[in-house]
Amino acid sequence: MKKIVFLLLSLISINVFAQDQLKVLPLIPLPKEMKQLDDEFVLSDKSKIVLTNDKFKPEVEYLNIYLNKNYGFTLPVISDLPKEGNYIYITQPDAETGHPDSYTLNMNQNQLLFIVENGEGLFYGIQTLIQLLPLEKAAELKIPCADINDAPRYQWRGMHLDCSRHFFSKQEVKKYIDYMAMYKYNRFHWHLVDDQGWRIEIKKYPLLTSIGSQRKETIIGKPKWDKDGKPSKDDKYDGQPYRGFYTQADIKEVVAYAMARHITVVPEIEMPGHSLAALAAYPQYSCTGGPFETYTKWGVSDDVYCAGNDSTFLFLEDILSEVIDLFPGKYVHIGGDECLKERWKACPKCQKRIADEKLKDENGLQSYFITRIEKYLNSKGRQIIGWDEILDGGLAPNATVMSWRGIKGGLAAAKQKHDVIMTPGQPCYFDHYQSKDKSKEPLAIGGFNPIDSVYAYNPTPMTLPEEGWKYVLGAQGNVWTEYIIDFKGVEYMSMPRMAALSETLWTPKDKKNYKNFIERLKLHAKTLDKMNVNYAKHFLTKK
Ligand code: ACM
Ligand code: ZN
Repeated sequence: MKKIVFLLLSLISINVFAQDQLKVLPLIPLPKEMKQLDDEFVLSDKSKIVLTNDKFKPEVEYLNIYLNKNYGFTLPVISDLPKEGNYIYITQPDAETGHPDSYTLNMNQNQLLFIVENGEGLFYGIQTLIQLLPLEKAAELKIPCADINDAPRYQWRGMHLDCSRHFFSKQEVKKYIDYMAMYKYNRFHWHLVDDQGWRIEIKKYPLLTSIGSQRKETIIGKPKWDKDGKPSKDDKYDGQPYRGFYTQADIKEVVAYAMARHITVVPEIEMPGHSLAALAAYPQYSCTGGPFETYTKWGVSDDVYCAGNDSTFLFLEDILSEVIDLFPGKYVHIGGDECLKERWKACPKCQKRIADEKLKDENGLQSYFITRIEKYLNSKGRQIIGWDEILDGGLAPNATVMSWRGIKGGLAAAKQKHDVIMTPGQPCYFDHYQSKDKSKEPLAIGGFNPIDSVYAYNPTPMTLPEEGWKYVLGAQGNVWTEYIIDFKGVEYMSMPRMAALSETLWTPKDKKNYKNFIERLKLHAKTLDKMNVNYAKHFLTKK
């Protein structure tokens, strides 16, 4: 009888574990493969880190800084397995896997074993470990064990931030990079210049910042246009000068900060349109000669760089030469979007260029412009990315296309065997509304991209034939800031949509499950609360 009771009790306890095993872990993005285990690793200041290869030191240091900041202790780093006590053991696979971004994490009560080829994979493994740590500060941190084998679905996992329309401090940009790192993003697209402000110091052209980084005031609310297309007299302005830029030292600091988190910064230097702030400083590179003022309203200016003037290209090459010294990544984003052609149509130099180069029209001139800049950047060992308008008039030979006007441009580019990054307005523009009840939302540019639509997004279009799939590098969330005036606003619009997109970019498609994601997000929200992030809370009440 006793035996039967014992048997029954153990069956019950197995059953309890089976239930427990289903306990939702607050992991975002969900790993590729994970088996939860009936074990617990207790991390404390008695635990050690066993490291046999110094190349992982930066990631170990990152973990120790995190532990110290959040729990008040660091772990000693040793090179042999300790005789007693538990430890984190970082080792490499026997043979190279060719996947520097993957990691294996095997856990039991004695050890957390990371098998990683590279610092990148270890960094992602550490992010997973951090998400498993309890929130409360304690001397002993109980970590639920699991065996995890993880790797990303896409190589381009990007977030964008517009720092031209509104300026965000270096500290705020670093916070944004921290949020990206938490969700295993690896590309920060830094929108540094636009009609409304030039935000990067260029030593050779100091007026870009002394003039171009300032605007005398900013429109209040949405601009109105008269029937003839002229700005409406009803527009109201705040009368407040607005300014801000990053010194080259600031830029280097941000780039290094991102690099330590395995995030490459992709600078965007807009041309030939969206360039009024630069032309306010150097009007000689426009078609009309100016004068101009940095734009004080939202929308697109008619005045753009003159494509008929060789000195425009020399000016831009000088700028790009300083830019590539600051940003070590492979890509420079050269914009290319929304370039109005009115000035080119009326400009004798631009028209002469069209004739001399036997170009078809102004679209051909846009293609000439981008191709000439591409040639310069390629000669410096860099690749260009442009918005999908760079398809108009013919794609520059090596360009990567960012598809934003839907997926059409992405499909066309992939069919032409060009790399593509998907960031269609729906659902990748995080400046769009996330709730239908606009009265309860901060003013936004328009659109409707709720979190479930972001989660459901599949960057590789079903209509793209299979041979084109490899050109889809990944996707990106874009945060344009015409109507986002401060960093709390950036947090509100990007969080938690950034979390939802991360799972689209990282987790295998067949492992994704929206209901399960929301359960994990509800747990993860406690971390966001602890970090004091101003995230949007619609998911807490939505079914
Ligand atoms: C864009 O949104 N103009 C790329
Ligand atoms: Zn011109």
